[in-house]
Amino acid sequence: MSNRRVDNLRRRFQGIVFGGDYNPEQWPRDVWDEDVALMKEAGVNLVSLGVFSWSALEINDGEFDFEWLDEAMDLLGANGISVNLATPNASPPPWLATQHPETLMVERDGTRVSVGSRGHFCPSSPMYRDRSRRMAHRLGERYASHPALAMWHIGNEYHSNCFCDYCDSNFRRWLQAKYENLAVLNERWGTTLWGQCYSDWSQVHLPKPVRGSVNPARELDFARFNSNLQKELFVAEKHILLSATPDVPVTTNFMQFFPLNDYHRWAPELDVVSFDSYPDPRRQDAFIRAAFNFDLMRSIGGGEPWYLLEQAANAVSQWSLNLVRQPGTARLGSYQALAHGADAIMFFQWRASRFGQEKFHSAMLPHGGTETRSWQEVRRLGNELRELKNLTGARSEADVAIVWDWENWWAVEGVAHPDNGFNYPATVMRHYAPLWKAGVGVDVITLDADLSAYKALIVPNQYAISPEQQAVVEKFIDNGGHVLISYFSGIVDHDDMVIANGYPGGLRSIIGAHIRELSPLVPEDAVKTSGEQDSGLPAVFSASSWQDDLVLESGHALAHYGDGYLQGQPAIVENLRGAGSATYLASEFDEAVMEAIVRRILDRAGTHRLQDAPLGVEVAERKNQAGTFLFLLNHSEAAAGLTLQRAGRDLITGDEYAANDPLHLSGRDVAVIFSPAPSARTRRGSP
Ligand code: GAL
Repeated sequence: MSNRRVDNLRRRFQGIVFGGDYNPEQWPRDVWDEDVALMKEAGVNLVSLGVFSWSALEINDGEFDFEWLDEAMDLLGANGISVNLATPNASPPPWLATQHPETLMVERDGTRVSVGSRGHFCPSSPMYRDRSRRMAHRLGERYASHPALAMWHIGNEYHSNCFCDYCDSNFRRWLQAKYENLAVLNERWGTTLWGQCYSDWSQVHLPKPVRGSVNPARELDFARFNSNLQKELFVAEKHILLSATPDVPVTTNFMQFFPLNDYHRWAPELDVVSFDSYPDPRRQDAFIRAAFNFDLMRSIGGGEPWYLLEQAANAVSQWSLNLVRQPGTARLGSYQALAHGADAIMFFQWRASRFGQEKFHSAMLPHGGTETRSWQEVRRLGNELRELKNLTGARSEADVAIVWDWENWWAVEGVAHPDNGFNYPATVMRHYAPLWKAGVGVDVITLDADLSAYKALIVPNQYAISPEQQAVVEKFIDNGGHVLISYFSGIVDHDDMVIANGYPGGLRSIIGAHIRELSPLVPEDAVKTSGEQDSGLPAVFSASSWQDDLVLESGHALAHYGDGYLQGQPAIVENLRGAGSATYLASEFDEAVMEAIVRRILDRAGTHRLQDAPLGVEVAERKNQAGTFLFLLNHSEAAAGLTLQRAGRDLITGDEYAANDPLHLSGRDVAVIFSPAPSARTRRGSP
């Protein structure tokens, strides 16, 4: 992903990128001058421009008005502010829908959506494709040599899921290419069940509403198809833009815990991975969830720095209750993104809208103007970030990997399972939180990745797994890796077909046990469980949600069920094999138990904490040729203290620290301790 376009971007900014979405088309011209003056005051060096501007740029079919955009580009450029120029395909203008109603998206229930919001297009519609690509061409040609142009922002948060006839034909073509032979599709979809066998391709459709339960294999293929379909839209515009500007990087903004797009497969198409982060202030664990998503963004980009393209300076307006972000939270969350690999900190949006669906959404510049705490915080942040310019390009090292796999997400939340309330993001977070608390570097991967760099691997509920993926886990353990696998893993292949010869398929020799029966529990049930001596587990704790009826083979139990129909049976199994080990959880356990299990695995793997810190203080590190940047982020409201293990200088306050010096952090405060690399120290000192 690092290529000459990315190098150009780094050369242009020479430091951290700071800014937000700018929508000048919502404002009279005289406001623009104030905007630009205040942007400079806040240290803004990049704005995303024109994201929803199609109807302002193309008034009617083929009738373009680029004058206002020319003027905005010129004004920004003249003031040293670069532009991340959007192709406005996320919101086609009403004239397109009126002239070509087939460009509108159709919901699964057959409802064709209407105009008046956004994201209402059909991704397969030839007319939508033609007109959106024509717009990309025009933008590419017109602004190719504009000095303000830094990057292309293609579309916005791709998220369509259309069930129209065009998509239906496209899906059928995609299946024909995948299976070639209808007999193979029938086999892989298991159509002999409930008499669904197809005798001609014309009978095969995308999953419209059915009378009973849906066919899970068809749903899976549709999810793959849909992710790919949208990626194709992105890629088509990317080629158009790169033919006009081969040296300008392209991006699009990804979303948190977003089910529709397999970003592992998308990321290689982007020059820079970009992310929109909206942690919910109501959640206690909002910042742990944010950390996970940040790690994911860094990992899907191969460890390269990514851009935080959107976040809220304060409250959002799209939820049922939109709480303010407490003072200091937006700043802290921004540093957290940097800590996990971001090179850009941006917001939605620059100036708060006065009308429409987002009039109560916060902005860098709120309705209340420069007197507000949001503005003060944004301005402070923008100016502080100037001190972090050497951080750009720095990477993170991780000893631990956790699996996050869209294919498995789609499959494990499929229909007609023992437990149909299963929530994949929630289970992954239960496994990630102890890693976050342990203060170790974590990459977020699939089992198709190269695992050789890791010492420990966490595999939450990998229901769908291929023989190749099983082999990867096996090799990892045999080479000395330590793996945690949780229940309802190894059950089906990638077509949702149960793996032959009992559960958990090919994971049997890995976990050293097999499962006779899968048994979900009612949510309020807790099964008494007891940890073995020396296991590091509590003597008595609870299991919930699920129980496997496990039969030990080469594995041994770390915990047993103390009551219920599986009384005396193993609840946690450890299997030592090769130079490594596998630990298998046959149930769900609470936070403290998960922490104890993860600690045992990390200790055995020999991973180390980056820096000791009290609970609530997050620790993360990035490195480049200049040196090491240690981030200490105090997520609690109370002050915290720690003893620095390494000497360095806080890039925010300028304070110098020797090793073993105490460091004090106020509530929601952050320190970025820079320790120059030995070679950099003699060459050019500190940044
Ligand atoms: C994002 C979207 C932005 C804005 C923001 C509000 O999902 O890309 O345009 O609507 O949400 O939080």
